[in-house]
Amino acid sequence: MSEVAERVVSPTRHEEDLKELSIRPRFLAEMIGQQRVCENLGILIQAARERGEALDHVLFYSPPGLGKTTLAHICANEMDRDIKVTSGPAIERAGDLAAIVTNLQEGDLLFIDEIHRLSRAVEEILYPAMEEFALDIMIGKGPSARSIRLELPPFTVVGATTRLALITSPLRARFGSIYRLEFYDQKSMEAIVERAANILNVETDPQGIEEVACRARGTPRVALRLLRRVRDFAQVRADGKITEGVASEALALLEIDELGLDNADRKVLRTIIEKFSGGPVGLQTISASISEEPDTIMDVVEPYLLQLGFIDRTSQGRVATHLAYEHLRLEPPGHLQARLPEI
Ligand SMILES: Nc1ncnc2c1ncn2[C@@H]1O[C@H](COP(=O)(O)OP(=O)(O)OP(=O)(O)O)[C@@H](O)[C@H]1O
Ligand SMILES: [Mg+2]
Repeated sequence: MSEVAERVVSPTRHEEDLKELSIRPRFLAEMIGQQRVCENLGILIQAARERGEALDHVLFYSPPGLGKTTLAHICANEMDRDIKVTSGPAIERAGDLAAIVTNLQEGDLLFIDEIHRLSRAVEEILYPAMEEFALDIMIGKGPSARSIRLELPPFTVVGATTRLALITSPLRARFGSIYRLEFYDQKSMEAIVERAANILNVETDPQGIEEVACRARGTPRVALRLLRRVRDFAQVRADGKITEGVASEALALLEIDELGLDNADRKVLRTIIEKFSGGPVGLQTISASISEEPDTIMDVVEPYLLQLGFIDRTSQGRVATHLAYEHLRLEPPGHLQARLPEI
């Protein structure tokens, strides 16, 4: 994993995050935030249950760490069915997919993470499997080869991706529902931190919770990770309780600022501003200039900077906005400065 993806505020999954599993909401009622998605999903699930049918295919997309995998498992729990978990890169050949789907029971869910990374060949046998619950398998080779059709029990594909744009339109069209998860607002983030602190048995006060929540980039995975770091700090340097002072000292030590930006984010912003006069500058150029993979910058750094309105994506490249200059306490160039009203 690259340096940028490994940092404390990275929304991508780390080894230590496996401990999240005990904290993961298991039912819709435990999900905090994402009201619109949860409400729609609730209707979909209840309707399918009442009709005794398999749930319609569902696709979740969002930046990392916002709850796609969590919601996939919630769908299975709410439907009271099994869920098999796989991912786009793990299904290398058509045969791999055939082996998985032929083992599904009626109504089971198949969670395909990183579904945008499925190969074309696999996608093509997935279409009829999703649409007609049938698999067309080629038997033999050369002139004697023939295709046989295998009937499957009705099942549900739950797809997850961080890149909706990379999903081919025929695959997209096979999902009955497509949901985009948003970054969480401050209130939801506080509720998530409070819930996790209770489960982890950490003593907190409301200001301490607020402090952790507001630096977690609207991302539950980051919030849980910061909470663990602040808990360690509170235990070693204070009396174990997470107060505002303890949280802000711990986070300052990790060089995470009051908006949750760390050195890597500031480096990207400073590169655009100082090396390229505020942009526009292409992703490839930024990437070469700070020696980071373009994909990492696009998945891990940019979504939150875009959300904050610190950068804009234009057809010529990335541009730093006046908000970015102000946050870094730099003087914005003339054309970005707010015009004073004429007297
Ligand atoms: N709404 C929520 N309420 C409480 N906790 C949440 C919520 N959403 C996510 N979490 C927590 O955040 C963690 C990360 O969520 P999850 O693994 O579902 O993200 P993801 O979108 O699948 O990320 P990735 O793109 O990296 O696969 C979960 O382990 C869960 O504990
Ligand atoms: Mg996931």
